[in-house]
Amino acid sequence: MAAVRTALALRGGVQGLADRLIPAEAALWDFTAGMQRTKLAGMLVTSGLADALGSGARDAADVARELGLSEEVTLRVLGAAAASRLVRMDRQGRVRLARLGAPLRSDHPRSMASWVAYQASSMNAAAHGEIGGQLREGAEPSGHRRAFANSIWDYFGEHPDEGARFGEAMREMTVLDLAAFARAYPWPREGVICDVGGGIGTLLAAILERREGARGILVEAPEVLGEAEDFLRSRGLAERVQRRAGDLFGEIDAQADVYVLKWILHDWSDEACRDILRRVRATMPAGSKVVTIDQHLERYRPSPVSSMADLLMLAVCEGGRERSPEEVHGLMRDAGLTAGRVRHAGLHMVVEGVAQ
Ligand SMILES: C[S@@+](CC[C@H](N)C(=O)[O-])C[C@H]1O[C@@H](n2cnc3c(N)ncnc32)[C@H](O)[C@@H]1O
Repeated sequence: MAAVRTALALRGGVQGLADRLIPAEAALWDFTAGMQRTKLAGMLVTSGLADALGSGARDAADVARELGLSEEVTLRVLGAAAASRLVRMDRQGRVRLARLGAPLRSDHPRSMASWVAYQASSMNAAAHGEIGGQLREGAEPSGHRRAFANSIWDYFGEHPDEGARFGEAMREMTVLDLAAFARAYPWPREGVICDVGGGIGTLLAAILERREGARGILVEAPEVLGEAEDFLRSRGLAERVQRRAGDLFGEIDAQADVYVLKWILHDWSDEACRDILRRVRATMPAGSKVVTIDQHLERYRPSPVSSMADLLMLAVCEGGRERSPEEVHGLMRDAGLTAGRVRHAGLHMVVEGVAQ
């Protein structure tokens, strides 16, 4: 954690120095191009440009023709992408993805394509557009609910393509810290690990691959489980992981040694988190543990990553927010659990609770 914080602090310092090279108002003008840059990156993914560019240099006009795009607009978009360090363009109009833009490719080993497309989506922009109302009236309803009159989970149910892209975005983000999550906790060598709201099973698969004697239970919304089945089968884990359709706010029925909730609590208000934890507690055998994984955010200690994640939770989730380990332990105690150890994986906290 210290290394990650130091690297981010250094980067912030260098960016601050770079801003000082120009007048503050010029730096601020550049700052306000942030929305355009996010949209640009999203367009490179959703138009197919990033994948068509691949890993070599290509003539921009050829790529536009191949994808059936307007040549003129493609050149202008790629020019802005070059100015934003996503691509490099030479004087002959040949373009290649730059270091920053390479993970926009869907076949990049650390691809961020779905995450970028999700962040750049109109849905996400609309939710953020409502933060002004939240400032005046309080966090709830969420920005998303103010814009669409439903929760993002209901929205994804009604827009399965966007739901699938979000699921893939979660997988991409989880993969970035997978080894750290797998190392950060003494997952049992045998027995059962239950991932509650575990998406398609990315984390569970990584843990089980390192714990050959253990089995898994994946509790998820039914619409996610089909994709989970395909994913777990592709990893040769379909037989070791039971998939169970379950509702975080319904009865959770799973006997396990460890229950993982990754990026679940930060989606919800304190009251909803107590409800979820009580429901998990109700199925936990004595001596079993619950482990929550979220970004670590301390009050009055803004962090370049966790504070922005907190803003995202404010915009898109009902009562969602990032918390400190003490706050999570408080929620666990309210749900009848005993506070356990706190560990860290990158900027994430891994907070344990024990069922006595
Ligand atoms: C932010 S994602 C985290 C997914 C996964 N744990 C990960 O870290 O990639 C939240 C997950 O909660 C699931 N979820 C939301 N509401 C739910 C509910 N009422 N019951 C069950 N799962 C739910 C979503 O389907 C989604 O996969």
